[in-house]
Amino acid sequence: MTLRSVLAGTGAALPRTRVSNEELAQRVDTSDEWIVERTGIRFRHIAEPDETTGTLGAAAARQALEAAGLEAADIGLIIVATATPDNTFPATATKVQAMLGAPDCIAFDVAAVCSGFLYAVSVADSMLRTGAAKHALVIGSETFSRILDWEDRATCVLFGDGAGAVVLSAEDVDDDRGILATRLHAEGQYCDMLYVDGGPSTTGTVGHVRMQGREVFRHAVTNLASVLGEVLADTGLSAADVDWVVPHQANRRIIDATAKKLGLPAERVVLTVDQHANTSAASVPLALDLAVRDGRIKRGDLVVLEAMGGGFTWGAAVLRV
Ligand code: UT7
Repeated sequence: MTLRSVLAGTGAALPRTRVSNEELAQRVDTSDEWIVERTGIRFRHIAEPDETTGTLGAAAARQALEAAGLEAADIGLIIVATATPDNTFPATATKVQAMLGAPDCIAFDVAAVCSGFLYAVSVADSMLRTGAAKHALVIGSETFSRILDWEDRATCVLFGDGAGAVVLSAEDVDDDRGILATRLHAEGQYCDMLYVDGGPSTTGTVGHVRMQGREVFRHAVTNLASVLGEVLADTGLSAADVDWVVPHQANRRIIDATAKKLGLPAERVVLTVDQHANTSAASVPLALDLAVRDGRIKRGDLVVLEAMGGGFTWGAAVLRV
């Protein structure tokens, strides 16, 4: 028997308001044609004032708990991956804990921007396997619309808001179910390529997203292909064994190029970028939840998660569902 972190349930939450490229083009100097051709994005959800990273995260978490057949009181660990917390402090994870009515447990945020969910999954996996908790809620939740410069067409058309969540449970398994490997990376020398130009300790303001798109694109394809190769090698499996890839949903061209580099057929890749745009830390768990709920990802499938974002940070995970 091996103690592993097993996927027990998934959940998702999207803001009520959905905005199409055409609607955006009425406010911003852009076009549906440019956005679709360069990114594959068609829609994004934008949070209303009453919808926050915390409320969306809690809604996704409730769904994940229900899918896992658990109550909030069963959870011993809550990690929220976010770059857009409700407050500078306390951690949004503690706000989610309060909204769920979960009693005393471990709760904290992880900041690794678009790779945040991969970082959070890896931390939760380590903590579950060393006995810190039996059940963990790992949430990616973002309200990037609040940190976009709506005058900067090169960034504001790319992002959306939303949340995804998973319940991971520590289980003694006698097969290869659960998280089989995770890999994380960061290269801080590229921190100026994708960043927010504000913060509590510098400007005292929240700031706006700034990005050198072409550079990010170039690094993303190289880093994602490389980390996927590493994490598969860790498990002794190959691309041919993979049933589903759930990639970070930043740009369809990045997703296609990465899959091609690894020889992964496009039909095995879960795509939501057209519907959600880039929801940063929420994008992987949102896509995972969709593919679990529509029946594509089934018990026994080998699933690979990957993401890359500001820092640069990037990572990947392999799990048997
Ligand atoms: O989550 C991880 C972080 N993010 C990413 O992974 C994003 C990575 N980067 C990208 O996805 C792409 O670089 C972008 C989609 C951001 C941009 O695509 P690109 O093919 O690299 O375009 P570009 O930035 O080189 O811009 C090409 C042209 C420029 O015009 P000129 O200078 O060629 O006349 C831009 O001004 O497109 C123009 N442009 C736009 N036009 C219409 C830039 N944004 C827009 C826009 N609408 N929204």
